[in-house]
Amino acid sequence: MATLSTNPVSARAHTNIALIKYWGKRDEELIIPYTSSLSLTLDHFYTDTTVQFKSNLSEDQILIDGQQPTEKSFQRVHQFLGLIRKQAGFEMPAVVQSVNHVPTAAGLASSASAFAALAAAGSKAAGLQLSPTALSRLARRGSGSACRSIFGGFAEWQRGEDDLSSYARPLFQEKLTDIRVIALTVARGPKSISSRQGMKLSVDTSPYYPAWVKTCQADLERLKVAIDQNDFSQFGRISELNAMRMHALTLSADPDFTYFNSQTLTIMNLVKQLRHNGVACYYTIDAGPNVKVLCQQSAVAKIAATFSKVLGEKNVIVTKPGPGVQYL
Ligand code: DP6
Repeated sequence: MATLSTNPVSARAHTNIALIKYWGKRDEELIIPYTSSLSLTLDHFYTDTTVQFKSNLSEDQILIDGQQPTEKSFQRVHQFLGLIRKQAGFEMPAVVQSVNHVPTAAGLASSASAFAALAAAGSKAAGLQLSPTALSRLARRGSGSACRSIFGGFAEWQRGEDDLSSYARPLFQEKLTDIRVIALTVARGPKSISSRQGMKLSVDTSPYYPAWVKTCQADLERLKVAIDQNDFSQFGRISELNAMRMHALTLSADPDFTYFNSQTLTIMNLVKQLRHNGVACYYTIDAGPNVKVLCQQSAVAKIAATFSKVLGEKNVIVTKPGPGVQYL
């Protein structure tokens, strides 16, 4: 039999931080969320992925950061490649090499940048020419937050009703451009409960989940107005509020859980103290103990100096808005 292969294709995608959080799936297989969300793609942290399909392989060959992935990660990537193969109409296995440029110290999740880069490189290697919307829908199937990393700057994931209507789109590219996100690391290593498990437990058991769905929509609308008006303090206030409302779903789940540790709480208080002293800054926190501080360029030096004293300089990383997915 002739050996068929496609050309290797490499893509880079940056990670994103949600300001209005995605926390809960209405459809777990298709990854359709209960609520829309809004994020900022960050310049500092990205994943580079190369994909090539080859008929002479017996199964997918996957290397992540130069290592064989765990069985669980292998299956997740393998299933995702299956979606691409189905769209392309062939069965060829693939060679995938993925390198995460997310400093371990940043404590940021890499599944958003990883699946956005894999969607872009894999679909092109398979000969599919997907529009940005179709690429966002595909990335969503790997990890919900990945659908937003297709785009640079602010991106809104419109929850939609089904596979066709649930995708992200870029918005407000010229607004709040001096925004900065300072990633503060308080802990490394894998989290005790993944965001996938954590959001499911919240949906299934928190009596406040219906209230989250309702307030999230209102938070999103208010945040969009704040961005459109370049109103940083409203922007920060609403982002912080929405993050805390998400974390309230973990505390009210059964069994209850939290992503915070004692240092998370210390940092939250320090941000509030800085704010009290006239430094405009707010925090947001994902499914882990690390804190991201939202501020404007003019306040970076003061905030970075404050937290470097507490956490050490290497645990304080300043990032700014980053680009959408690109081919290398
Ligand atoms: C707290 O996108 O990692 O970061 O769709 O199950 O892969 P899956 O979840 P994932 O969850 C992200 C949760 C969050 C909020 C957000 O990014 O919107």
